[in-house]
Amino acid sequence: MRLTPITVQNVTLPNNVFLAPLAGYTNYPFRRLCKGYGAGLCYTEMVSAKGLKYGSENTEELLYTDEHEGICAAQIFGSDPQIMRAACEHKKLQPFPIIDINMGCPVPKIYKNGEGSALMENPALAEKIVSECVKSGKIITVKFRIGITEDKLITEEFAKRMEGAGASLITIHGRTKNKIYAGDVNYREFASAKKAVKIPVVANGGIFSNEDAERLIEETDADGVMVARAALFDPQIFCALTGSSAESKLEMFKKQLKWTGQVCDERFVVVFMRKMAAFYVKGMRGAAGYKERFFRAKTPEEILTIAEECFR
Ligand SMILES: Cc1cc2nc3c(=O)[nH]c(=O)nc-3n(C[C@H](O)[C@H](O)[C@H](O)COP(=O)(O)O)c2cc1C
Repeated sequence: MRLTPITVQNVTLPNNVFLAPLAGYTNYPFRRLCKGYGAGLCYTEMVSAKGLKYGSENTEELLYTDEHEGICAAQIFGSDPQIMRAACEHKKLQPFPIIDINMGCPVPKIYKNGEGSALMENPALAEKIVSECVKSGKIITVKFRIGITEDKLITEEFAKRMEGAGASLITIHGRTKNKIYAGDVNYREFASAKKAVKIPVVANGGIFSNEDAERLIEETDADGVMVARAALFDPQIFCALTGSSAESKLEMFKKQLKWTGQVCDERFVVVFMRKMAAFYVKGMRGAAGYKERFFRAKTPEEILTIAEECFR
């Protein structure tokens, strides 16, 4: 696809192909992997602003980063402007120059709390959150959807309001909240948002190949793309999208296992790498059998032994 650097304030990202925030997955080792395969920017999974305030989030694992990763964005969620600003200023978010605000999460518990996608129904509060967060001195970006329901799309208006409130970049997931992750992605909404604002517009949803990304950019003029589920099945999709060199699945798996072991405890490593292996075997001959074996493994060493056979 058409690669271009993206500049947000004083930060220039090497290219316009981003890894999405994915709760339960986009931890440091996974982001480092995707970055190495060419991703221009990677996002942490969403972290509760209240959780940060009260120290209740398991933030050690969620917010670990280091110099191997380079510039990374942390995503936060919440609905109280002051608590959101305090989260931006929290010492655990210090290593992240870019803070993304989640305004698209459809999970009922979050939505009912007035957080995530509920903020699309309360644009005045959404603006207040952004303008408060901007005061932290961080680069503030927003990720939202095209609306709550198909009959009331809000993309263009919401994009303008986020820009007006001080957001430096917006990412739009081209599905409504009610569609969750299913169904077609609305390219028209990307195109109209792009025309309406001057800040970079990143389009998200349904990108599973280089052709998908090319078609999206061609038809919408979006500044960049954000890849989510496709990266879970194959982090090396970033090689296809950016022209970086790929390696074998086994090499990739070994790297991820090693890096996860360097920053997470053994229990986490086993549970997490089983989940990743289940994605990576998809479509392979004998996938069901390998998946079962991975799920029975109890140590990182056992996981490695199965991977050496499976991804050989
Ligand atoms: C397992 C899972 C976890 C997700 N977690 C987050 C999250 O923490 N924050 C967020 O903004 N979006 C989250 N999303 C939404 C994705 O970032 C993305 O918007 C969505 O999957 C559409 O992109 P895709 O069609 O390429 O998968 C999640 C999606 C999935 C499937």
